[in-house]
Amino acid sequence: MIFIAAATSQLGNLVIQSLLEKIPASQIIAGVRDTNKAQNLSAKGVTLRIADYNDPDGLERALLGVDKLLLISSGDIAASRQQQHANVIDAAKKAGVGLIAYTSILNADTSELLLAKDHQETEKYLKASGVPYVFLRDGWYIENYTGSIPVALQHGAIIGASGDGKISAAARKDYAEAAAVVLTSDGHENKIYELAGDNAFTLNEYADELSKQVGKTIPYVNLPKDEYAAALVGAGLPEALVNILADSDIGASKGQLYSKSKDLGGLIGRPTTTLKDVIASSI
Ligand SMILES: NC(=O)c1ccc[n+]([C@@H]2O[C@H](COP(=O)([O-])OP(=O)(O)OC[C@H]3O[C@@H](n4cnc5c(N)ncnc54)[C@H](OP(=O)(O)O)[C@@H]3O)[C@@H](O)[C@H]2O)c1
Repeated sequence: MIFIAAATSQLGNLVIQSLLEKIPASQIIAGVRDTNKAQNLSAKGVTLRIADYNDPDGLERALLGVDKLLLISSGDIAASRQQQHANVIDAAKKAGVGLIAYTSILNADTSELLLAKDHQETEKYLKASGVPYVFLRDGWYIENYTGSIPVALQHGAIIGASGDGKISAAARKDYAEAAAVVLTSDGHENKIYELAGDNAFTLNEYADELSKQVGKTIPYVNLPKDEYAAALVGAGLPEALVNILADSDIGASKGQLYSKSKDLGGLIGRPTTTLKDVIASSI
């Protein structure tokens, strides 16, 4: 049995969609906090089990009989994600899970991003647990940018603080497909995959492609970190998230979201989805 934790995340849904093309629904368990959010999965024959990263006992019950677990990193940045992930790893070990694939961050070994800390600690904890692991070190989602196309069109500009930093972002569904491959094929135990898009781009290049596709110039405006953070606060984003986003942009300007790795295309067996295609499907 394959268990997807945080299955109601956008990534989790895409992983399950990809798994369903490879194995019967009867072999898939979706770990969810709210079954109402997972009716689409249940309708496809996927089993639902309650799995809250803050509930160690519940996690152990949920993971009984599971062979492979995809631990999708928690989206709750206000919580101790490190503790939440440790709860899942402990429960999986007690339940006898045979392999844990963890969605980490690109360049986790060297990343100085604020976001990287939880991932680095989780990788260390998982390695020390003795449970066979796979680190799926996911790069940035292209959707992190395309998700704010409506805002960019409204304001007539894209703002950020990543300068000329090259960003090896990839489509969320490509990372999902890679996870599904790892969960349904052999030979991935204790492997580390640096997952990144084939064609890195700067935000100027992103703005050029968006402008071309919408038929209107939407320039990229690079801001100092503080000004960028102030703009995000002004747009109503919570401060904790703003700190992380501004810090990540500065990291991107220093190449921390860049990678030459071809692991993603290698796992999914095709070139990664292009920026052009992700933009086209978002407008
Ligand atoms: N690579 C990137 O660019 C990037 C960007 C954003 C996030 N991420 C990371 O990658 C993960 C997947 O990305 P995504 O875009 O699919 O995220 P998402 O759609 O925002 O989903 C976040 C998930 O975290 C789950 N979660 C929060 N607290 C939890 C808890 N206590 N127990 C169990 N689950 C909990 C949420 O559960 P509910 O569905 O029950 O609310 C939700 O499913 C994120 O959680 C985040 O760690 C990566």
